Amino acid sequence: TVIQWFPGHMAKAKREVQEKLKLIDVAFELLDARLPMSSRNPMIDDILGQKPRLILLNKADMADEAVTEQWIRYFHDQGRLALPIDAQSGTGVRQIAAAAKEMVKDKFEKMRAKGIKNPRPVRALIVGIPNVGKSTLINRLAGRHIAKTGDKPGVTKAQQWIKVGKEMELLDTPGILWPKFEDEDVGYKLAVTGAIKDEILNLQDVAVYALRFLSTHYPNRLAERYGLDDIPDDIVALFDTIGRRRGCLTSGGAVDYDKVADIVLYDIRTEKLGRLSFETPASRT
Ligand code: G4P
Repeated sequence: TVIQWFPGHMAKAKREVQEKLKLIDVAFELLDARLPMSSRNPMIDDILGQKPRLILLNKADMADEAVTEQWIRYFHDQGRLALPIDAQSGTGVRQIAAAAKEMVKDKFEKMRAKGIKNPRPVRALIVGIPNVGKSTLINRLAGRHIAKTGDKPGVTKAQQWIKVGKEMELLDTPGILWPKFEDEDVGYKLAVTGAIKDEILNLQDVAVYALRFLSTHYPNRLAERYGLDDIPDDIVALFDTIGRRRGCLTSGGAVDYDKVADIVLYDIRTEKLGRLSFETPASRT
């Protein structure tokens, strides 16, 4: 689904999340482990306010493990707990309920102190930008398939609580928030990882971004994947070399750049170049 985020939609999305916050004890901020800053809503601190928040670095299975460790430390230094997870396979997902419970310990202590003997389950909400894995995680926590509402803020249905074990309940409709747009780099990173659809940016531009990134940060992987002896500095030369290696030629024998772009992006998204992270705490702008 392609979402058009206009100012009115953003305001509405924010309002909808804030309505849901009234119902919950803890928010799960779902980020893409490969690009935690670029996959983050720019107004998240304002939107969530003082609500206890657990950061979940999803798709950790596709991210560079060493970089994910750096991000966990980075968030830790800011006083936030971040857990790496893979919502698709379920890795790390079992830790979520325990972490959530720990986060609301004080609030529940107070409830007990007021004489409430059996406090209710901890109530949680998942928030994140489109395609970060919100529905996958909801299904994983629920242990069954939960119908997805349209990826549109404002498409409402009756909300329900999903039981996650005995001690947690999750709202079945996640909070959908917009990504950062103002930064071109962010747009390219989101496009490379498939978080924003291929129709939005020019595919060759996205591939240029990806190849430049790989040349700088993962040159060996790039060389190995496409059988390159050395990596040309010139981006057109790099497209040409990969194109010839992979037989991406037009009937006239010229390199078909669209096809090269397709192959490179497909390879990245299907981990043919291994696990990749597109930003580190140090590279963060
Ligand atoms: P959303 O609700 O936040 O919009 O995201 P959704 O769950 O639909 O997930 C978006 C895509 O990311 C899906 O792939 C999903 O399978 C994939 N995904 C979610 N979590 C993980 C994870 O932890 N690891 C990996 N590797 N992938 C994950 P898709 O190609 O759009 O659909 P499909 O292939 O599942 O059919």
